[in-house]
Amino acid sequence: METTYTPTEMMDRDSRSNRYYRNAVERHWDPGEIDLERDVENLVAHIEGYDEYGRETWYRTLNGIAKFGAGEDAVTEDLAPLAVVLEDIDDQLFLTTQLYEEAKHADFFDRYWREVVWEVEDRTGWERSNPRHDRWFNEPYVELFDRNKKAQYRLLEEDTPENRAKAYCHYHLTVEGILAQTGYYGMQTSYGGEFEALPHLPGLVEGFTKIRSDEGRHVGFGMNQLKKLIREEGVDPALIEGTVSELIPLVQGITEDDRFQPDDPEERAGLGEGELAAYAVEKHADRMRQITDAAAEIPDVDELVRLEGDD
Ligand SMILES: [Fe+2]
Ligand SMILES: [Fe+2]
Repeated sequence: METTYTPTEMMDRDSRSNRYYRNAVERHWDPGEIDLERDVENLVAHIEGYDEYGRETWYRTLNGIAKFGAGEDAVTEDLAPLAVVLEDIDDQLFLTTQLYEEAKHADFFDRYWREVVWEVEDRTGWERSNPRHDRWFNEPYVELFDRNKKAQYRLLEEDTPENRAKAYCHYHLTVEGILAQTGYYGMQTSYGGEFEALPHLPGLVEGFTKIRSDEGRHVGFGMNQLKKLIREEGVDPALIEGTVSELIPLVQGITEDDRFQPDDPEERAGLGEGELAAYAVEKHADRMRQITDAAAEIPDVDELVRLEGDD
């Protein structure tokens, strides 16, 4: 790492990193401004509408929210090593927005738990549940975030093109690109009011929508960095494919964590079995092609943050 001071080059306004940075500034949003009142009302009405609505059913709703909340905390805490090693001014600019956005995502979930989950529990006379209780985090979850942390902190010990590629593979391609994007899609679909057996949670969906749009930009940045590492630093595309492939079973272990699902498939509401996994696989295949095929273009930033049609 260069430790003597030399003035940096001017920004490259046409670089992807700089354009992603500007896009983040222009699309700024405040997690404190999302209206959560209707979520509380809808949840209380939903619970009261059932003769027997117990803690188990309630935990099924909380499961995804708890996993995302802790996940956003983890990625907020584990991004800093990359900021330390990146030397390009435009990459640095982008990374400041990503750090800030991960913090906002963590903020949103913390607020949701305090203002919706606990409020509903207070009103129904249940004990307040803990968003960091062990019950929400299965082994693949702990393992995936553990490996991600190690891949990021390794940069501080040994900053090589290969280790950078691995860091982007863990963080941007797998945790954000596959796990988070898939999970957000599932949650938005489940609580968007489409299924009668599930409560409509407009505040949660609005938060997810904003977060997913930010994540589109984060994933695009990671993809672009990987493409540069292949083109300019000679990183072998097989390293990228191999790193992500090793992590995919962990992602599946998380999205298919059905400890909270009823045993009878007839009673399961929301997306059908395998639909989430199919969504994840399809997204992943597209991205790998865009990264490893020199001629394939990474979608432009407007496309990355657009959600309609989910393509
Ligand atoms: Fe995030
Ligand atoms: Fe992110």
